Amino acid sequence: MLAATHWLGLANILLFLASSGLAFSTNVLLRRAEISADELLEAYDIIIVGGGQAGTVIASRLSENPDVSVLVVEYGYFNTDPAQLEPNSIGFSSRYQYNITSVPQTGLNNRAIGIYAACCVGGGSTINGMLLNRGSAADYDSWEALGNPGWGWSELYPYFIKSSHFDAPSPAAAEEYNMTWGEGSYSDGPIHQSFASWQWPGTGIQRQGIIEAGAEPQADGSGGDAFGVIWYPTALDNATALRSYAVNGYYQPASERPNLHVLTGWRVDRIVFDEHNTAVGVEMTRRVSSGGCRAPKASVGVKREVVVSAGAIHTPQVLQRSGVGPAWLLEEAGIEIVSELPGVGSNLQDHPVTSASFNYTTNVLPNPSVSYLDPEFMAWATQELEEHRSGPLRISTGNTGGEVPLTAIDPEGYQAIVDEYLAQGTGDYLPETYSEEQVAGYEAMREQLALLMASPDNAWLELPLTGSTSLSTVLIKSVGRGTIFLNTTNIYAEPIIDYHTFVNPVDVKIMASNLRFVRRMHETPSMQQLGPVELVPGPNVQTDEQFESHIRQSSRSSIAHNSGSAVMMPRELGGVVDAELKVYGVQGVSVADASIMPIIPAAHTCSTVYAIAEKAVDIIKSRHGL
Ligand SMILES: Cc1cc2nc3c(=O)[nH]c(=O)nc-3n(C[C@H](O)[C@H](O)[C@H](O)COP(=O)(O)OP(=O)(O)OC[C@H]3O[C@@H](n4cnc5c(N)ncnc54)[C@H](O)[C@@H]3O)c2cc1C
Ligand SMILES: *[C@@H]1O[C@H](CO)[C@@H](O)[C@H](O)[C@H]1NC(C)=O
Ligand SMILES: *[C@@H]1O[C@H](CO)[C@@H](O)[C@H](O)[C@H]1NC(C)=O
Ligand SMILES: *[C@@H]1O[C@H](CO)[C@@H](O)[C@H](O)[C@H]1NC(C)=O
Ligand SMILES: *[C@@H]1O[C@H](CO)[C@@H](O)[C@H](O)[C@H]1NC(C)=O
Ligand SMILES: *[C@@H]1O[C@H](CO)[C@@H](O)[C@H](O)[C@H]1NC(C)=O
Repeated sequence: MLAATHWLGLANILLFLASSGLAFSTNVLLRRAEISADELLEAYDIIIVGGGQAGTVIASRLSENPDVSVLVVEYGYFNTDPAQLEPNSIGFSSRYQYNITSVPQTGLNNRAIGIYAACCVGGGSTINGMLLNRGSAADYDSWEALGNPGWGWSELYPYFIKSSHFDAPSPAAAEEYNMTWGEGSYSDGPIHQSFASWQWPGTGIQRQGIIEAGAEPQADGSGGDAFGVIWYPTALDNATALRSYAVNGYYQPASERPNLHVLTGWRVDRIVFDEHNTAVGVEMTRRVSSGGCRAPKASVGVKREVVVSAGAIHTPQVLQRSGVGPAWLLEEAGIEIVSELPGVGSNLQDHPVTSASFNYTTNVLPNPSVSYLDPEFMAWATQELEEHRSGPLRISTGNTGGEVPLTAIDPEGYQAIVDEYLAQGTGDYLPETYSEEQVAGYEAMREQLALLMASPDNAWLELPLTGSTSLSTVLIKSVGRGTIFLNTTNIYAEPIIDYHTFVNPVDVKIMASNLRFVRRMHETPSMQQLGPVELVPGPNVQTDEQFESHIRQSSRSSIAHNSGSAVMMPRELGGVVDAELKVYGVQGVSVADASIMPIIPAAHTCSTVYAIAEKAVDIIKSRHGL
């Protein structure tokens, strides 16, 4: 059955390639490193838990050394759907995702929020929106300031560069749209990134509007200057306009190596430790098509290190099931404590979002609001994509937008927000499960967050621009902190997730400032050309109270950027891993994925995960002399 779907998928890809006439140079034999459970070796040098985005990168890089045996265990399967490579394939469909809902969010009028978490080889990079922006230097410098030497911008930037490859748009497009980029921010790395050479004309007008409202255009956008108005690439190979992701960028070139094994459709249940708290292997169970897992189970030994890359939603769950986590939780779940680490599953962050919507009564043509409904335009757009891999259907999630600092969002009011934040008691709005060390850790974060609020070099609002009349208004940095804990009734059920979105009123205030900024942007001379009439929040929303109530009823907790839940920080500040990514209190276990981020960067998380994974590879290699 499995083999049949595999070959069907492959046939589809080949058919698709033949029909589109593309020279798709990467190898489509996705599954050459895939093994079945009876082919497992007794032990591997490195076992990677989760073949998602980070896990795939780390496995591919470590297996460059033929003397290192690497096993990846992934709960999901290979995604062989050719449609997943297309520019508009952002995978909000459930087939390659987990099906999890948060607990009701008290800050969102008790609404429960759907959680985005990838479940397939390549993880988020396989199904995501491909918007590959990077945070500003200040984002990562705050990581280093929290006791993580080596994780500031100057040391991470080389890994952003190493993972990426940029092809410039046509000179005509660059000139027409004022596209800017920094040649030095990219290399000939595995992940291809590009700008669409055709953009909706309204995009340029919105760019001017946001500039007139006070956001400054930046030259590179990916070189540490992601504050103001920037251009950012999409993870589309410029030549083919197909998705560039961890599978075709990293894994496929590695897939013929005999020292790399990938086992899909198996769940790692726990890491097994000896009496010295040294990891000796992992236990796992096979996934069944009816959902969940059932016997057979299997165990496999590890000689050097287990790298947990199960993503920000499941990495805490794997650690907790292995006896690494808060004592109260492990006791409640009946799990023997191996290392008491209260921070495992806390510090969860994402980017809360609402949207502002307008009627542009004198809109330019073409525009995404009406042209998508025009059959003639769509016929042209479809032909452009099919014949030239260009045109509106290649834009995906877009290439430009505002990354606006609070100092520009609200030049008169930002200081009052900083003051209000610093006047709070440290623990006032934290989850009640926070321990003393964790509260101390948050106090250190608060100092950084307050600096970032008052800094012109770091964004709090993200406003992607595509000419659309509906504008995602993202809180791209947040003072709130959530939790992920085992379901103690059934530790194999999905974890219990509470984002704590908008529990802290400071986040609500900043989101209100963000919406007011979008309103102000539409009052600029450039935007007035389009005759904008605000529909949402609408003219009836004016006072702080009205904004608050609108925000609580309209926002979501997440734009699929779960991070921070196995935080890299000193242990006495509630940290889970040290700056070498080693889990405190055990030997031979590290974490490398979105969960280590102490403070979520003011950017979508994919490119940062590539940088983390590339840096993790160097750390792991140097630790074992590989
Ligand atoms: C729908 C969606 C859209 C997104 N859009 C964008 C975007 O446009 N731009 C951007 O920058 N970012 C985007 N992101 C976010 C970005 O893709 C993620 O932050 C990133 O891919 C996370 O990488 P990771 O390695 O930490 O985790 P993941 O890639 O999620 O990998 C974790 C893997 O571990 C596996 N796993 C979990 N538990 C177990 C277990 N017990 N045993 C075995 N395997 C296990 C999972 O199945 C999964 O494959 C999006 C994410 C999603 C889901
Ligand atoms: C989520 O639900 C979809 C649709 O029912 C299913 O195909 C998929 O396997 C589920 N995901 C997981 C991880 O169980
Ligand atoms: C990228 O693609 C565009 C057409 O979509 C083309 O004009 C441009 O030259 C390409 N860039 C490179 C570096 O090949
Ligand atoms: C490009 O930049 C110039 C100067 O800042 C500006 O006058 C022009 O309107 C911009 N064009 C677009 C399409 O953004
Ligand atoms: C948008 O404005 C146009 C022109 O004034 C009007 O005809 C149309 O009904 C408006 N649409 C909405 C949704 O308000
Ligand atoms: C925990 O798991 C049990 C058993 O599978 C389930 O009935 C319950 O709904 C889960 N609890 C939550 C909060 O999801």
